[in-house]
Amino acid sequence: MLFVCLGNICRSPTAEAVLRHLVSTEAPGVEVAIASAGLGDWHVGEPPDRRTQAAALRRGFDMSRQRARHFADEDFARFDLILAMDRENLEELRRRAPPEARRRVRLFLEFAAEAGTDEVPDPYYGGQSGFERVLDLAESGARGLLDFLRRRPRD
Ligand code: 4NP
Repeated sequence: MLFVCLGNICRSPTAEAVLRHLVSTEAPGVEVAIASAGLGDWHVGEPPDRRTQAAALRRGFDMSRQRARHFADEDFARFDLILAMDRENLEELRRRAPPEARRRVRLFLEFAAEAGTDEVPDPYYGGQSGFERVLDLAESGARGLLDFLRRRPRD
């Protein structure tokens, strides 16, 4: 599954790190490719934002080896689920998706039953609390996704 946000240095790499950690610690038998990408290309090749990395590390997620990549239309075929962080990302992805892929493009927080919202707000121009909020929502969404992955039939 591919997580997508705007810059690929805050929200989607956080979701990637949290889900990868959950799978490796709680469900090593679940086979899933986990990646992230950005709809903008400003930060391609860079590690996650240092505020993102610091907040993640305090909760035990090491994001230092991740690097930003730019979403490419080929990703619609490479990933079975493409999960947008907010409605703006969702709309852009749906617009670009080939018809057969459109229903595989969804909001990440659809999987977070208890989050109380369906968007992960962009923390980039805000303060520290925005980065903590991204982590709270990523943990909630990743937990829901892990349940979904455990239940889904294998082919
Ligand atoms: P992200 O946050 O989409 O969660 O990675 C952003 C990072 C950078 C920018 C915007 C959002 N930017 O405009 O550079």
